Amino acid sequence: NKPRIVVIGSLNMDIVVETSRFPRVGETLTGEHVHFIPGGKGANQAVAAARLGGQTTMIGSIGDDMFGQSLLQYLNEDAIVTDYIKQVPDKPTGIASIMLAESDNRIVVVPGANACCLPEHIQALESVIAEHDIVLVQLEIPLETASAACILAKKLGKIVILNPAPAQKLPANMLQSVDYITPNRLELATLTGIETAGDEQLQSAMEALLDMGPSCVVTTLGEEGSAFLRKGETIVKIPAYRVPVVDTTGAGDAYNGGLAYALAAGSSLSEAVQFASKVSAMSVTKLGAQAGMPTQDDLTRLPIQ
Ligand code: RIB
Ligand code: NA
Repeated sequence: NKPRIVVIGSLNMDIVVETSRFPRVGETLTGEHVHFIPGGKGANQAVAAARLGGQTTMIGSIGDDMFGQSLLQYLNEDAIVTDYIKQVPDKPTGIASIMLAESDNRIVVVPGANACCLPEHIQALESVIAEHDIVLVQLEIPLETASAACILAKKLGKIVILNPAPAQKLPANMLQSVDYITPNRLELATLTGIETAGDEQLQSAMEALLDMGPSCVVTTLGEEGSAFLRKGETIVKIPAYRVPVVDTTGAGDAYNGGLAYALAAGSSLSEAVQFASKVSAMSVTKLGAQAGMPTQDDLTRLPIQ
């Protein structure tokens, strides 16, 4: 019995340009390589969970174009159920324009068809969502849709994980439907209005977010690792694995996919967070968001420095 995870979120084609440095304003540079790599936070998290062994369904929208078809094909290669991905006429598939210099990135996302993933689509899939253990949601689809997804999932008694990325403020009834919320420092600051630079501030902000509804806050801290906090407990920090970094695009998605898989498979929160940081570490050693998501077998070869 594989753990069942349904992801409700975005699909993008990532247009990745490798360059030795970023151009200055008004400057034209010659880049080294261009890659068309499947991405989008939703689809990335679905691929992460599926490669680890989850039975995974993706819900979202693509355009009626070649990028959309190619994204579906990639998901099918990982045995992800794509039957509930809606094809929207007259809208382009979402894209992310990603400049990669050394291991830094700059990203511009054009949502395209992702903006047409509406609450009605989610409501109509109630019986599909009901067949899964965990519902994983991000914020690259309209906020009303992400919110409807969390509320419906909670009503169905599912475990709800919300990755609040990209950063935005969220309505109270949405936050009250979430079990695990997984911001990074910036997203945590946006959600709570509290600065999150130091350790003390981090603690206050995570406590404030818990008071807004979720039963657990898991904050990803990049090179510093991650931290989790449950009601009435103290913060637990988990260090990151030190690995050679090739591309950090999708590192957060790997983390969320790993967390969802581990929780669905019955791991304790502390085990799940350890596992998620391993999945994330492995993903940054490879180019591309979806392309870099590890299998369980890959995880046994983590190149720790
Ligand atoms: O989280 C990484 C993703 O964000 C990329 O794949 C890109 O599509 C953007 O949406
Ligand atoms: Na990667």
